Order: sequence, then C-alpha cells, then structure tokens
Amino acid sequence: MSEHVRYFRFVLSFLLLVGALAIGISALRYWSEHGEADPTRYDRPTGSTGPVSYRKQIKPILENRCVVCHACYDAPCQLKLGSWEGIARGVSSDRVYNGSRLVEAPPTRLFVDAQKASEWRKRGFSPVLNEYRNTPEQNRSSSLIYRVLSLKQAHPQPTAGLAPDVLDFGLDRKQSCPKIEIFDLYEKTNPLAGMPFGLLASIERIKSRSSDGSSRARRTTGPRSFPRARKPKSPHGSAS
Ligand code: HEC
Repeated sequence: MSEHVRYFRFVLSFLLLVGALAIGISALRYWSEHGEADPTRYDRPTGSTGPVSYRKQIKPILENRCVVCHACYDAPCQLKLGSWEGIARGVSSDRVYNGSRLVEAPPTRLFVDAQKASEWRKRGFSPVLNEYRNTPEQNRSSSLIYRVLSLKQAHPQPTAGLAPDVLDFGLDRKQSCPKIEIFDLYEKTNPLAGMPFGLLASIERIKSRSSDGSSRARRTTGPRSFPRARKPKSPHGSAS
C-alpha cells in the first residue's frame, strides 16, 4: 500500500472518530439537560386543547406541503405525514427499499407491524414530536417537526433559479435522519436541510410578500408567463 493511501486512510479514520465523538458528546449533553423521554406520550392522540385544530389547520398544510414526499414506503426516513399514526411513529434511518440488503429485514408497515408509538420506539423509530418534559417551550425545541420548519424559515430557498447543488433530489439519495438529541449539531452543518425540502415558500407567502411591496419577490417567483403568440404579419397587410 502506498504511503499516500495509508496517510489518507489515517486522516479519514481520524475525522470519522472526531465526528462520532462530537455526536456522542452532543447526545450525552442533551440527555443530561433534558432528563428521560416518555415513549408512551403519543400512544394515543392527545386531543386538541388549544385554539389550533389538527384537522382544520395542520392536516391541510401537511397534505399540501409534505405528503408529496412523506407518504409511501420510500418516504425519507420512513416518515409518513399523511396520518396521525405516522407522525406519532416518527423516523427511522433504515430504508424500506434497499438493493444491497442480503437478508430479510423485519417489515415496518404502518398500522400492521406495530400499533403504538412506544412499540415503534422498540423497533428503532425515533420521535418527531417532543417526548421530553411536557412544556410549551420544550414541545417546540424538542420537536423535530418544529425544528426542521424553523430551519427552513431561517434559511429559505432562493426564489429564482435552480435549487442549490448541495440539495440532492435523487430517489437513492443518502439520508441522515438525525435524532433530536443531535439536531443542534446537524443544523449547523446542514443549514439548507429545512423542510419542506427544496421547495419554495408557499405561494400565499410569496403573494403576501409581493403585495407588501417587495418587488423582488414579484419579479422572481413562479413560472414566467410566456410572451403571447402574435399573428404573423401578412406581407399583404391584414389577412382577413
Ligand atoms: C421534496 C421532498 C420533501 C418534502 C416536500 C418534505 N420533505 Fe421532509 N424530508 C425529505 C428528505 C429527503 C428528508 C431526509 C433528510 C435527511 O435526513 O437527509 C426529510 C426528512 C424529514 C424529517 C426528519 C428529519 C430528521 O432529523 O430526522 C422531518 C421531521 C421532515 N422531513 C418533515 C417534513 C415536513 C413537516 C414537511 C412539510 C412541511 C416535509 N418534511 C416536506 C424530503 C421532503
């Protein structure tokens, strides 16, 4: 083995070790700050207690902006946002379709292979809603859904041109599916990973921004209208 290859391998292993250590420390710090999680909290829908209705306000957003990706067996991180049970189940970094798998994997069919969130936790799924202390602040800071939405708000998609190259839209893209315990670290290194992934701000927001007088939003968003076709001028004047 050449000297260069050996050196490269050493540097790579060192970097991997440092990365793994940083992730480990970050998770340990999270647990010591936030105590123990309660995996049974979302075993049953809690019912709406505040002014916001899941059915009337949240579900339409999920259906318009999320289920296009988060619905089928190939949903990123197996996160299915089309039903309460899918949200309560959360994420797993195991892929359902994995061409390199040699031996059978236990199936993870929603509504079939487990029924409660706590049963999914035993099958390797981690929550996207807060399972730590049940306070309004913590329900935001320890919810992956809240965190990925805020990340997008802080780093919105450019409203013109193509999506940045770092965003991979391939079906076979690598996925990270970081758990909430290491999300602080993840968002620093992946500022463009907010949700909805790679999509523009909602049309309503763009429209309201344009009516606020932001001419940039008006000029650069949405498909450009094509110039209207003109009747070719007849060399002999009017055709009629
Ligand atoms: C264009 C496809 C697409 C859309 C639309 C989309 N997502 Fe995602 N989502 C992804 C991909 C890809 C990942 C995996 C990212 C990774 O881990 O590398 C993901 C991962 C996630 C995760 C898991 C993050 C983690 O830390 O494990 C959450 C939560 C999520 N999305 C929520 C949403 C919500 C809420 C919406 C709608 C507002 C949404 N997504 C819309 C593609 C999409």
